[in-house]
Order: sequence, then C-alpha cells, then structure tokens
Amino acid sequence: GRVAAVVPAAGSGVRLGAGLPKAFVELHGRTMLERAVAGLLTSGAVDDVVAVVPADRVAQAESELAHLRDDDHLVVVTTGGAERTDSVRNGLAALTAHRRRPRAAVYDVLLVHDAARCLTPPDAIRRVVTAVRGGAVAVVPVLPVVDTVKQVDADGYVVGTPDRAALRAVQTPQGFAPDVLLAAYDAAGDVTTDDAGLVERTGDRVATVPGDPLAFKITTADDHARALAELDPGAP
Ligand code: C5P
Repeated sequence: GRVAAVVPAAGSGVRLGAGLPKAFVELHGRTMLERAVAGLLTSGAVDDVVAVVPADRVAQAESELAHLRDDDHLVVVTTGGAERTDSVRNGLAALTAHRRRPRAAVYDVLLVHDAARCLTPPDAIRRVVTAVRGGAVAVVPVLPVVDTVKQVDADGYVVGTPDRAALRAVQTPQGFAPDVLLAAYDAAGDVTTDDAGLVERTGDRVATVPGDPLAFKITTADDHARALAELDPGAP
C-alpha cells in the first residue's frame, strides 16, 4: 500500500506578519510549502502529497511543486477553507477523488503535516509511518513539555495544574489508518487544532512516537528567525 500526505498550507499567516500567506514565506529562497512537501517525499516514506493552499496561490504552488512530481509520486494542489479543519477535509477529498480504485485500497497510511513544520527531519516522518504500519490506527509525534502548564478559567484564574510528567507537546506529521481518519473527518461537526483530536472523539486510541525539536511550527517572526538560523548556522 501507498502512503499519502495532506499538507494544509492555506493559513493566512497573520501572526507571522509577513504580509502573505505563511506557507509562501521563503526560507533561503524556498517557500515553507516547497520545503515541507520536498521533506515528505525525500524521506522515502511518502508516495503522494496533496498541498492545500489559498485559492489565489494555486498556480504558484503548482509551479513550485512541479519538480517534485514524477511517475511514482503524485503531487496534487487544491484550495483550502476558512479553518485548518476545512483545509484538511478539502485535501482528503482531493486525494480520494484522484484515484479510480476505492480509497482504502490505494493507501494504507495517511499523514497530515503542517506546511509550517517544514524543517521536520526525515526520521521523524518515518517513525510515524512505521508506527501506523505496525498497527496503530492513529499516531502523533510528541515532545515532553518543559514548562509547567496551568489550566485557567475565562477570567484567567488558575483552576488546575496538570501533572507535567503526563503532558506532551504534539507535532506533525500525524499518521492514520485511512478508514479511521476519513471516518473522523466525516463525523466532525466542528473545528479542532489537530487531526488526532477528531480521532479521539470517535473513540479510537491514539499512539505517540518521539517527535523532534526541528519539527517546531513556524508561527511568529521569532520562529522564522530560528528556522533561518537552523538552516544556516554560520550566518550572522
Ligand atoms: O495557524 P497554524 O500555524 O496553527 O496553522 C497550521 C497549518 O495549517 C499551517 O500550515 C497553515 O497554513 C494551515 N492552515 C490551513 N487552512 C487554514 C488555517 C491554517 O491550511 N484555514
């Protein structure tokens, strides 16, 4: 079976403040989107990719991703929606529309990977795919939480302190048995910040594998500066 990845890249990037959609911001001459898709394909663990982009960026994405497409690797571009959940749903629809055979027969692993985590190392991608192939129906890459985390009420007063040892920060790519992810999205009425969250609600167990610090999400200008430094440690 094949492995497909949906890459949501249709966010506005307001918090980064670059004046353009975040996934189209360049890191040393290559957009985050192109880096994210190339990273998935060159890991050797991913066969096909669907990039989900703003409607007015489809042509740009097509041209930037064209060099990654070949006889063995399908690279599809489709348009996103208002929320990340909508964008992933559009990506899943494009993926399943693209093949003539029944969707579950084509892929045995589906990944969802934020374009904004474009420096994710290949080993982190492979760990997720391996865990799904090993029988986990949903897999998230995680890191320990270094800060103490408080739960607060609507007024900002602390209502609890969860045991830090039991907390994990969650990254992408998240990996799924196709039927489980598609069913979770079919059932989802509302919005979630991560795909495994939808699977949790359907009652399926979500496994964890070690993530990687380099899989951090580029959200703010500081994150962007860190990404440039990671790519070019000698630069001033
Ligand atoms: O905003 P945030 O960084 O959490 O978004 C995570 C990923 O989801 C980004 O790659 C972003 O482009 C994508 N996204 C999307 N459609 C939206 C909102 C976010 O594809 N409506």
